[in-house]
Amino acid sequence: MVKSRPGQAAGPGPSPGGAPAAGGLECGLGGGFQLTEAQFSKLASLVYSLCGIHLGEGKRELLRARLAKRLRATGCRDVQDYIERLEGDRSGHELVCFLDVITTNKTDFFREPKHFEFLVDEVLPKLDKLCSGGEPQRIWSAACSTGEEPYTLAMVLLEHRALWERRGAGILASDLSTKVLEQAQNGVYAQDRVTDIPRPFLTKYFQRGTNRWAGYVRVRPELRKMVQYRRLNLMDNFDFDKPFHVIFCRNVMIYFDKPTQERLVEKFRNCLVQGGFLMVGHSESLTGIRHRLAFTRPAVYRRQD
Ligand SMILES: C[S@@+](CC[C@H](N)C(=O)[O-])C[C@H]1O[C@@H](n2cnc3c(N)ncnc32)[C@H](O)[C@@H]1O
Repeated sequence: MVKSRPGQAAGPGPSPGGAPAAGGLECGLGGGFQLTEAQFSKLASLVYSLCGIHLGEGKRELLRARLAKRLRATGCRDVQDYIERLEGDRSGHELVCFLDVITTNKTDFFREPKHFEFLVDEVLPKLDKLCSGGEPQRIWSAACSTGEEPYTLAMVLLEHRALWERRGAGILASDLSTKVLEQAQNGVYAQDRVTDIPRPFLTKYFQRGTNRWAGYVRVRPELRKMVQYRRLNLMDNFDFDKPFHVIFCRNVMIYFDKPTQERLVEKFRNCLVQGGFLMVGHSESLTGIRHRLAFTRPAVYRRQD
């Protein structure tokens, strides 16, 4: 049923949709290579400047474990050798691969379900007020990881089609990591990743794999069609033609420091329609950072002016 197996699904490696494995790597480097304080600090500043992720000193072992993968893939002798390769990488390819192993991609279908209930109860029924002139509803899943969040949004929209069908709706899903975007676009998930999806939704929106795909499901084309994927670094300037009605940016700001969070929330505000909503992870309240959004309920903020 599926043309190519997603890399994560075959053999050892990160669990589908889960964080990259931090240990148990059979690279011959497992415990054997050093990441000095100076090297850690150089790589941590590179990560911060490229994608805003703040790696405190406590993350040294995590970085070391994740680097093991890149050292093995590139054949670098040690971290110094790898740093030189990164610095001399004119194509940008190794930088992308490096960021792919740095990012934590844990996600789930129907994660933090209150946001989806809010969408159904409070946003979709009031679209006429939110979307001027009968324009389509635009939702952005701004750190979509392996696709579970945008596909959940798509299922919720399709289940309540009558509320938006006249005007239309679309979901933009973006992430920094090319690896997770590829998995999201494939839309293939191991059976154990879909256990939280209500059974009627599973039957309606997923195809069960057979033969060598037994144990996997794939999103059906109607779900896939609702979502447009794009690589986007949240640290960059946003260049959208039209503002969004709802932005989901969940469980990523937690990796950024306060000044970075402030700049990001301001950028989100500026690409929301007046009255539009920003949903953040439930452990990511905007308390303690300066912003111009109105608190609506836990983990939900609204642009008022
Ligand atoms: C833990 S996942 C969250 C996925 C989903 N939003 C959820 O709540 O289940 C965080 C995602 O943020 C992405 N990310 C990290 N830094 C980013 C950046 N600067 N720009 C865009 N995406 C980034 C990672 O690649 C990862 O897929």
